[in-house]
Amino acid sequence: MILATSPMVGSALEELGATHEVRIIPFRSEAWTAALPEARALLVLLSEPLTPEDLGRAPNLRAVATYSVGVNHLPLAECEARGIRVISTPGTLTDATADLALALLLALTRRLAEGEALVRSGHWKGWAPDQLLGMGLRGRTCGIFGAGAIGRAFATRAWALGMEVAFWDREGSGGTVDFGPSSGPRIPLDALLARSSVVSLHCPLTSDTRNLLDARRLRQMARGAVLINTARGGIVDEAAAIDLLHEGHLGGAGLDVYAGEPALDQRWLSAPRTVLLPHLGSATVETRSAMARQVCSGIREALGN
Ligand code: GLV
Repeated sequence: MILATSPMVGSALEELGATHEVRIIPFRSEAWTAALPEARALLVLLSEPLTPEDLGRAPNLRAVATYSVGVNHLPLAECEARGIRVISTPGTLTDATADLALALLLALTRRLAEGEALVRSGHWKGWAPDQLLGMGLRGRTCGIFGAGAIGRAFATRAWALGMEVAFWDREGSGGTVDFGPSSGPRIPLDALLARSSVVSLHCPLTSDTRNLLDARRLRQMARGAVLINTARGGIVDEAAAIDLLHEGHLGGAGLDVYAGEPALDQRWLSAPRTVLLPHLGSATVETRSAMARQVCSGIREALGN
């Protein structure tokens, strides 16, 4: 039996149901817990953290699948120890997420939310030389955390805007990262923070990257630089980021993810120069349907039929 917690976009889960027993039961309900002993595969969302105890109740488990590329909510060590296959969606949401990071970058630097609110308020008095001036991007440096598929896809977009691109990732500094139309140097974290007008996060949340952008590192960012986060909230010390926005050190923050989402540090809501989205990185019909197909075929393969 495949124990899922919610339907997915498209028909992949129904098609899986034609050959396998699929039960859809809300996460952490009594019925879900009661069904664990029979489950051969679990399918959860990124907002549904599984624990080692859950695995302990599921002796027949062959696969744990998540409808996301991120796997930070899964008990990876226990899965490995028990030979349980972990299935996620690498590759499929690369462009959708990079597009959303670009949308956040432009919304923030061109002040789209403020402009839209002004028009909707009915108080717009017309074009003015200094109205809602933003930050031009050509020639500025875009510092990218993470040189994986999404980081490189975002680099192509920043490069297309005329930005210089530099990377930092766990491989350390040195060499260059090829992102298709061009390449950018891999440089030390301190240098990346000091040099960049835009810092965009594209690394997974792991024990190495949790709180990576703490108060000290946020302060190392160039004054007025903006932060884009479409990765995971836990990579940033949010309280420090909010303080630095109020101080004016941080020029802006475009966020799609939050440490305790969907609960938000309420201070985000009144923090200046922010664009706040509800975790939409992969939210296109095409991408969510493809993610569902990828997850379902991974489950089929893991169950061996
Ligand atoms: C989105 O954040 C994902 O991990 O798929």
